[in-house]
Amino acid sequence: MTRLTIRRPDDWHLHLRDGAMLAGVLPHSSADFARAIIMPNLVPPVVTTAQAEAYRQRILAALPKGHDFTPLMVLYLTEGTAADDVEAGFRSGLITAVKLYPAGATTNSHGGVRDFSKVTAVLERMAEIGLPLCVHGEVTDPAVDIFDREAVFLETVLDPLRRRIPGLRVVLEHVTTREGVDYVRAQERDLAATITVHHLMINRNAIFAGGIRPHYYCLPVAKREEHRLALRAAATSGDARFFLGTDSAPHVDPAKECGCGCAGIYTAPNAMACLAHVFEEEGALDRLEAFASLNGPAFYRLPPNEGHLVLEKRAAPVPVPDKVVTGEGTVTVFDPMVPVHWTVSARTA
Ligand code: DOR
Ligand code: ZN
Repeated sequence: MTRLTIRRPDDWHLHLRDGAMLAGVLPHSSADFARAIIMPNLVPPVVTTAQAEAYRQRILAALPKGHDFTPLMVLYLTEGTAADDVEAGFRSGLITAVKLYPAGATTNSHGGVRDFSKVTAVLERMAEIGLPLCVHGEVTDPAVDIFDREAVFLETVLDPLRRRIPGLRVVLEHVTTREGVDYVRAQERDLAATITVHHLMINRNAIFAGGIRPHYYCLPVAKREEHRLALRAAATSGDARFFLGTDSAPHVDPAKECGCGCAGIYTAPNAMACLAHVFEEEGALDRLEAFASLNGPAFYRLPPNEGHLVLEKRAAPVPVPDKVVTGEGTVTVFDPMVPVHWTVSARTA
């Protein structure tokens, strides 16, 4: 197969940032994706519905003419979040999810949750109204090895939390381990997981290939090959509990290429081409649409998009610019380290 038409995909986990960075990166997402779950870890974070509405307006103002793109807004959960504000945001149609960052787990997560008992009332309200919780699933205990943080989180935080608050609908964001995939598969309801493109393409060797490579550093950090293979099996299985969330996370080059580089891999410009490459390798191009365009809307109780995206496989590898220039500085685009022959050749609204 060298040409594939799918419903327009959505990105169920995206960092757009703000200001000049937002203006520089947004067109690369809005070109291909019809909707995206917009991560709220700005500085300061998007904590209230009023802040989410203002951020939504800034995103819409930065959208190139002719791009058809709907930002799905997310609130950043803190120990001070008011259940009534969350419910009002949900009922007005503005808020699509709430994001739980364990404090200290990743970029701009220090305002997140330290004591999970302090957010019980909000989570109970979310369970009542059916509002999904997006979870960064890693423990922050420095005694836990960084490669084990997801597996330990499932056992010590997520599973007890889901038992305490039955009916809470949870998305385990950017799942990176076999344990994560197995946990999701074992649940009959109220749990799904997003998978990034980069975790389908690289394992942890990429971070250390011939030297330290900051552009392959993200959180959760890439794991061993056996975990990458488990993610590939889940993504290409057609199982509706798994769908695409790129976690495309731009940082300017100086913030990555330094003594303490930020976590984040910027995949928006080549996410769909890389994804087609992965699905072809797995003999699963017929299931790409489910993963990128159907399973996500089904979990979020939204209709699939009406428009379509055409992917084409070319005889020669299709070059992608290695950097995107923004008003804040240059951002390095994900290099999959293998030739990718797929490209997006057409889009309809
Ligand atoms: O790699 C990551 N980058 N992981 C996250 O959880 C946050 C993100 C960011 O905001 O840069
Ligand atoms: Zn993220």
